[in-house]
Amino acid sequence: MDIVFVASEAVPYAKTGGLADVVGALPASLAKLGHQVTIILPCFRSCRPFIRFPSFQPTVDVNVGERRVEGVIKQAESTHEGVRVLLVDQPSYFDRAGLYVDEHGQDYSDNCERFTFFCRAAFAAMEAFDLNVDCVHAHDWHTGLLPVILQHEVRHVERFARTGSIFTIHNIAFQGLFDRRQWYITRLDDSLLTSDRLEYFGRFSFMKGGIVFSDVISTVSRRYAQEIQELEFGGGLDPLLRHRADRLTGIPNGIDFASWDPANDPHVPVGFDRETWKVGKRESRRVLREELGLEQREETPLLGIVSRLTDQKGIDLLASTIRELLSQDLQLVILGTGDHHYESLFGRLSQQFSRQLSARLRFDEGLARRIYAGADMLLMPSLFEPCGLSQLYSLRYGTVPIVRAVGGLYDTVVDATPATIRDRTATGFHFDHYTPEAFLSAIRRATGVFRNQATWARLVEQGMSQDWSWQKSAKQYVELYRRATFLAGARSR
Ligand code: ADP
Ligand code: GLC
Repeated sequence: MDIVFVASEAVPYAKTGGLADVVGALPASLAKLGHQVTIILPCFRSCRPFIRFPSFQPTVDVNVGERRVEGVIKQAESTHEGVRVLLVDQPSYFDRAGLYVDEHGQDYSDNCERFTFFCRAAFAAMEAFDLNVDCVHAHDWHTGLLPVILQHEVRHVERFARTGSIFTIHNIAFQGLFDRRQWYITRLDDSLLTSDRLEYFGRFSFMKGGIVFSDVISTVSRRYAQEIQELEFGGGLDPLLRHRADRLTGIPNGIDFASWDPANDPHVPVGFDRETWKVGKRESRRVLREELGLEQREETPLLGIVSRLTDQKGIDLLASTIRELLSQDLQLVILGTGDHHYESLFGRLSQQFSRQLSARLRFDEGLARRIYAGADMLLMPSLFEPCGLSQLYSLRYGTVPIVRAVGGLYDTVVDATPATIRDRTATGFHFDHYTPEAFLSAIRRATGVFRNQATWARLVEQGMSQDWSWQKSAKQYVELYRRATFLAGARSR
C-alpha cells in the first residue's frame, strides 16, 4: 500500500516527545513489510540540516485566512530505505527556535495559521509529487484538519477519491483549541462549526476534526483507548469517542530496536545484553555517577527520570515527596525540561544535595540514553499516559520501571507481586492511587526487592526479554489502513 504520514515531529528531524519516536520508527517497519511510506513534516529549524540539494522543489500556494501563502516542498535525507521524507518549508512559520511554544513556554499565537497552512500544504505536496495515496495517516491535533479537508474539499480530486484516513491520538490533552474568531483562518465551510463537528464549547478543536472525519481512529495503547472514553481522561471528547467507539482501536507503540539497543549504543560504555547486563550496567552506572558528580555508592540504588516536567508526568508527586526520598538510601537523576517552578525546585535541591541528586534541565538525547543504561530504576508516576516510551527504553536497558498503573504504563509493565515474581512475569512496580503515599510505597517496595539480588536479576532479565519492537504493532496498523481504505472505497461507490 501507499501510505502518507503527516505529522509535526519525527526522529531525527524534529522532536519534543514520543510522537517523534513513533513517526520516526513506524514507517521503517511498514516499509519492511513491503509498503511505500512518505512522511510529510513542517520544515522546522532542526530539519534544515537534513534538506537534500539539489532536488525537485515544487512550490505550492495555500490559502490561509485572507492570505495566499507560498510553501516550498523539499526532500530530506531519508534514514530508512523505502521511506521518503518531504518537508514543507515556509520559514516565517517554521524557522523558529521552538516547535509549538516560544522561549517562555507560551503557545505561538499563530499556531492555528501555522498548522492550517501545514495541513493544506500537505495535500498540495502529495499532488506536486504525484503520490498514490491509499491512506493518509494523521497524528495528533496538528494534523486534525487533514481528515476534514480530505472529506470536504479534495475528495473530488481523482487521486484522493478512494483515499482512506486514519487519525492517531497520541495525547488527548493537547487538542489544538482556538477562538472562533480564528475560524476564518482555516477556510473551512461554516457548516462545520457545529457541536457535532469541530465546535468545542464555544471554541473549535483541530483534534475534534480529526476524530469526527477520519475513517478510523487509533490511539497508542489498549488501556488508553478505553480511558479516553471516560469522563476523567476524555478531555471533553469522551462522548464523541464513545459514539465512534466502533472506529477506535488501541495499538501499543513499539520502539526502534536497532537504535535503542544497549549492546550497540555508542552512549553505553560497555555494551550489554540479557546475559551480560551485570557487568555492563555496573560500568554504565559508574560512568554516569562520575558524569553527574554523584557519590560512587555501589549498594545504593540509582533512580532516574527522563521526562517533560509537567503535571501529566506526575512531577507534582515527585516534587511533594522529593525531600522524603532524599532522606532514604537512594540517589536520583532528573533529566527534563518543563514547568518553571519544577525546574527551579529541582535545580535548587540538586545544588544542596549534589552528591545524591542531579538535575539536568535540558533536552539531551545522549544523557537520556546514559540514564536508561546506568540507572537501576526509572520513575514514571504519570497522572495519565497514553503509551509512554521511556518505560519501554528502560525495560530494554535493564532499568526497572516504577509506574503509575494508567494507560500504556499499565499495559506494558507487569507489577512485581509474589505471584508474578514466582512465575517470572514481573517487570516493574505499579501504584494505583495518585497520592504521595502510594508513590512512596511503590518506591519502598522496589528498593526492598533491589536488596535481594537474585529476585532483582529476575526482574531485570524479564524486562530485557520483552519484545516491544514495532513488528507486531506495524502489522496491526496495516490492518487498520486496509479497513480505512475499504471504508473510503465503499463510500465512493
Ligand atoms: P511524551 O511523548 O509524553 O513526552 P514518551 O515517554 O512517549 O512521553 O516519550 C518521551 C520521549 O522523549 C522519550 O524518547 C524520552 O527519552 C524523550 N525525552 C523526554 N525528555 C527528554 C530530555 N530532557 N532529554 C532527552 N530526551 C528526553
Ligand atoms: C504522547 C504521549 C505518550 C506517547 C507518545 C507517543 O506524547 O504523552 O504517552 O508515548 O505520545 O505516542
